This record gives sequence, C-alpha cells and structure tokens, in this order.
Amino acid sequence: MKIERMAVEGMNGERKDIDRMNIERIRADFPILNLQVSGKPLVYLDNAASSQMPQPVIDRIVRYQSQEHANIHRAVHHLSELATKEFEAARIKVQHFLKAKESREIIFTRGTTEAINLVMHGYGRAFIGKGDEIILSALEHHSNIVPWQMLAQEKGAVLRVIPMNDAGELLIDEFEALFNSKTKFLALSHVSNALGTVNPVKEMIAYAHHHGVPVLIDGAQAAPHLSLDVRDLDCDFYAFSGHKLCGPTGIGVLYGKAQLLEKMQPYQGGGDMILSVTFERTTYNVIPYKFEAGTPPIMAAIALGAAIDYLNGIGLSKIEAYEKELLDYATERVSALAGVRIIGTARKKAAVLSFEIKGVHPHDVGTILNEDGIAIRTGHHCAQPVMQRFKVPATARASFAFYNTKEEIDKLVDGIRKVQRMFI
Ligand code: ALA
Repeated sequence: MKIERMAVEGMNGERKDIDRMNIERIRADFPILNLQVSGKPLVYLDNAASSQMPQPVIDRIVRYQSQEHANIHRAVHHLSELATKEFEAARIKVQHFLKAKESREIIFTRGTTEAINLVMHGYGRAFIGKGDEIILSALEHHSNIVPWQMLAQEKGAVLRVIPMNDAGELLIDEFEALFNSKTKFLALSHVSNALGTVNPVKEMIAYAHHHGVPVLIDGAQAAPHLSLDVRDLDCDFYAFSGHKLCGPTGIGVLYGKAQLLEKMQPYQGGGDMILSVTFERTTYNVIPYKFEAGTPPIMAAIALGAAIDYLNGIGLSKIEAYEKELLDYATERVSALAGVRIIGTARKKAAVLSFEIKGVHPHDVGTILNEDGIAIRTGHHCAQPVMQRFKVPATARASFAFYNTKEEIDKLVDGIRKVQRMFI
C-alpha cells in the first residue's frame, strides 16, 4: 500500500490535502487495531455489527468526563451550562451530517432500534388502525420488522412485504403493486445488514409519497458508508446508530420532519419532555425535547458529534469510494474460490460480503478464522427472513470500514482456504 505523508488540517472541514485515503495514517488513529488476537494481528471485519473508535473520539470522551460533565437543561451552574452547550452542539453536527433543515428535527435515542420503536409508538399508534397496511421489505433487520408486527397485532393492521430476487435486490414492480388506499406506512432499510444491498430509497420514497404514504428509512448500515442528505431523499424519518459510525454504544438518532414530529405523541414520559405538570394534566415540551424523556446519554451524544467531525475530516465521499474498492476486491477474490457462494450479489452494494463455504457451518468458519485473529460475524445477522429467502440457516459475513485494507482481505481469503483444507 502506498503511504503518503501529508499535513493534516483541522477536523472540521474535509482534509483537502489528502487526495486518496491515507490508510496507514488513518489506522494509526485506532488503538484497537494494534491488538493481537490469538497471537496474530487483529483483522477486524465485523464493522456492520459495530465499528471501532478513533483516538480523537476517545479523547473527547475523556475530556467530557474529566472536565465537562453535569446534567443538562436543568441548572444555571457552569458545568451544567457547558454540558448543555456541548450536547446541543452535537445535535447541530448531526443535523449537518444528515443535511436536515432544522436541529429540532434531530432526536437523540439509544440507537436505531429505539428510534424505530419511537416512530412505531409515536406515529404508528396514533395514525395506523384496523385494516391499514404497512409495507416492509424482505431485507429488513428484525428491528424494522418486530415493532411493526407488534403494532399490527395491537391495531389489527396488516404487514405487506416487498419481495427480492436471487441477487438480493427488491422487486420494484412488486413494490409498486403493493400500494392501495389502505397503505399507511413504508418502513425500509437503506442498506441491508445481511447482504449489503443498497436500496433505491429515493425513488421508492417518491413513489410512496405519490400515494400519500410516509416513509421511515433504517439507515443503520448506510450512515457509516454513504454521504446522506435527508432533504434530497425526502424521507419522513431516518434512523441510525452511533456505534456503527465510530462513536459509542447507547446513542442513536431519529431524524423526523418537524411537521410530523409535532403531530406525534411522546414515546416515553418523564423529566425534560414536559413544560408543566399537575396531577390533572401535563403539557409536553416542544420538539425534539418532547421525545427525550429523562437524562439523555450526554457523553455519548457529544462523542457522536466528535465521531462525525472525524468522518467529515476524511470525507464521506472518499470513504464511499475507498470502501467500494475494498468490496470489489473482496468480491473478486472470494468469488474466485471454488466451493464458496456469495449470498447477496446486488448491483449496488455497500461494505458487506456474506458467504457460505459448502459443507462447513458458518460458526465453524468464524471459529477457525478467529484462530488467525480474523473477526467476522456468523449467524442470521438479526435478519432471519433473509436467511429463509436464501434457504440457509446462517451466513459468514465480512463487513468493511474505511480503515480496512486489501492485505486484510487477502488474509480473509487465506483463512477461507484454511477452513476448506480442514473440513473438505
Ligand atoms: N445489526 C448489527 C449487525 O448487522 C448488529 O451485525
């Protein structure tokens, strides 16, 4: 790999001086990448489950906890005002990251799952009723299936599922045919966590809107890899998690259009989400606070802001281009191996390579790769309907981030060959 030595400018703008991704310098920002596992250098290819954290984000957590921590929105003392200012600054960073119109459209949640549950409770329970239809896709993660199933059971609503082809691409004609006067909601992943398929969400949102149907996009697997613009997509809701984006666990984001959020009921009751409370009645706070009951994950939100600064410093468009190069290389090398089937061969994919080795259970693949320090995920990836569609119990999944290298993919390929020698 060519190592370029160039000056790094501030973290707020993109590093304009780096034309190509300077991977060695980027890797040096991630202390965990220096670990040895099973006596071998760690090859971390489980980024779709959770990505790693760079030193500037770790430093930001230490600074917050050692110099800035207090509860927010509650007191006039110095630390409370400082923590409040930093927390709200993080909200504005998220707003710009998503290119949302207003910062009040950004709600901090525990993660993507909580964001989807918030929409199910706050929007779904108020506006979806008996006999109404909710469209989902065959690619969804359990977190974008189960909440809608719970709502359907409670209300007597019906789930309709967009099917996919053998490549893992949604069938758009069949999607369009699902719409009728009973259709009330579309919940759709941007990028499939199990297959890597990038769905044509902009076109699908436009079609749903043509039928007056609001759309939630599960962006958990898209936010770390694609440059996002919620106004260009015109989605009504967009959800993502901090820990897949080089931030901490316990923090996520729900973007919602202000006029929809204002119509919605709060998801949880408690402190900070109220303007006034008597035993007779409560007046709710304005958005976004109406949806942020209780003390929020202050440190995690501020660290997410630092992670966004870090990613912006590299540039999402460069990340996207480099990760495409990695995925193309991995796809070419793995598909050249006899006895290995790639599951998910959509024309447009991001950062995920799911595969099976004929005659070997995926858990054995994961265990043997781990002996060489290679971390992948094996299992159903919280997407059992995807496994059922491809008639497999599980897959082995390598998932990439911008700090991975082609050399690491070569190690994965060597590892797969080793598994085949041991089992076949
Ligand atoms: N949803 C995460 C994954 O795909 C946990 O691994």
